[in-house]
Amino acid sequence: MSIGRTAAITAVGAYVPDEVLSNADLEQMVDTSDDWISTRTGISERRMLKDKPTSFMAIQAAKNLIERSSIDPKTIDLVLVSTATPDMLIAATAAHVATEIGATNAFGYDLQAACSGFLYGMSTAAAYVSSGRYQRVLLIGADKMSSIIDYSDRTTCIIFGDGAGAVLFEPNEEGLGFQDEYFRSDGIGRKHLYIKAGGSILPASAETVSNGQHFLRQDGKTVFKFAVSNMANAATKVMERNELTANDIDFFVPHQANKRIIDATAQRTGVDPEKVLSNISSYGNTTAATLPLILSDFEHRFQKGDNLMFAAFGGGFTWGAAWLKWAYNS
Ligand code: UT7
Repeated sequence: MSIGRTAAITAVGAYVPDEVLSNADLEQMVDTSDDWISTRTGISERRMLKDKPTSFMAIQAAKNLIERSSIDPKTIDLVLVSTATPDMLIAATAAHVATEIGATNAFGYDLQAACSGFLYGMSTAAAYVSSGRYQRVLLIGADKMSSIIDYSDRTTCIIFGDGAGAVLFEPNEEGLGFQDEYFRSDGIGRKHLYIKAGGSILPASAETVSNGQHFLRQDGKTVFKFAVSNMANAATKVMERNELTANDIDFFVPHQANKRIIDATAQRTGVDPEKVLSNISSYGNTTAATLPLILSDFEHRFQKGDNLMFAAFGGGFTWGAAWLKWAYNS
């Protein structure tokens, strides 16, 4: 009996800038302390990209994937870039990335769902591949959060960092790869996590800039509560309807927003803490890049057939969970 065609991740890549912004550095910039940041968020340091755009990191992550997998970029059909910090509002970052990496037979576009961008992108990429429409989809999550952070606002500047990660989706005939998802959104979120100016509600002006309205603002406490309950609920939904127990999950791959959010979400889903993957201590919250950076950092631990449960929550609000079977031994 044929299992049919699924879409699997067959390669990963990553890039983070060399420059480190430590908690000690932040102590010099705002009224905060290493102890407060570590205990409230689990973050020790983040990476900062200077004088270059988001596409620079996306290109490096894609090149890293191409090197690690030896694929010919000309065989890529589509380049998707999930990002909340595109190079420019118009001129898709993905089009530039595709050209720069030599994916000359591909088309490219950006996908924006804030911190859920990569998770939603996985669904989009997998749907294109499993439908038979395209063979090779390169999905990149990249964000230069330092370009939208106010480094005098201690409630946001301690959390975010810059980085990029990439995965390749290809057809699979063994039933491995993307299995199921539960995604939701709620427009109530735009009150709690937003950049007020620069869009069509409030186009950029000298006044919006002097008011600091081009920076990201959030009501951290509210975002925290919504994130835990919704990520846990989404992961539980995916597990229940596929008759998976917490024991069946080999790795829990949560968006890296705050170590306390990760731990509380994992606890609610019943997944053993040892299966919960985190690198937030080194990179902070890199928005659309958190999930592929986890995949790159922990790839060596994944075995063919392992069940990975992803969960993410972000601006909008947007959130969800997805179940993927790992397709190769590295
Ligand atoms: O990916 C989606 C995007 N964002 C998130 O997921 C963020 C979700 N939220 C969070 O991670 C947390 O809410 C924060 C890390 C942003 C804040 O942690 P918290 O435990 O919720 O702190 P809080 O906002 O309740 O603030 C507690 C206290 C306040 O002082 P008072 O009013 O109790 O005197 C804050 O003013 O901590 C103060 N505070 C700080 N103190 C030192 C806030 N930020 C800082 C800081 N350093 N950086």
